[in-house]
Amino acid sequence: MNKFLISVLSISIFTSIALDAAVYKGQREFVKKCVKCHKSGQVFVSTKKKREWNVFMKNKGEKLAEVHMQSKNEDAEDSHEYFESRGFTKNSKHLKDFLFEYAADSGNVPACN
Ligand code: HEC
Repeated sequence: MNKFLISVLSISIFTSIALDAAVYKGQREFVKKCVKCHKSGQVFVSTKKKREWNVFMKNKGEKLAEVHMQSKNEDAEDSHEYFESRGFTKNSKHLKDFLFEYAADSGNVPACN
């Protein structure tokens, strides 16, 4: 496990105390599934507004899955299994709660910077 991931994880554990359960579940999903590619973590989340995340996360994350499935970028390939899985659609609601919590216009500053 690299240093960055360890710091993300410890920050997650620390901040989770203040977050409600849904946001926490979404954060756990994000750390587990997204950070390996989107390495700036919560900072990446804060590059988009709620409205933008809403577009990605509508219909159980349909658009988010589409962006990755249709990407010509070969780095996106490793995400295909996840975006096709039931785990993704199942957790997409929590993920959305988390993305909203740290969106650019949420008023919440990312824990790591
Ligand atoms: C295996 C690597 C990988 C994983 C896992 C992954 N992504 Fe991506 N993601 C990419 C790549 C590569 C692109 C660029 C696609 C393109 O533009 O062709 C991308 C694009 C995006 C975009 C749109 C581009 C932008 O910045 O506006 C968003 C939003 C996004 N990812 C969010 C997520 C979220 C949230 C997760 C976790 C549920 C996730 N990604 C998991 C590799 C990944």
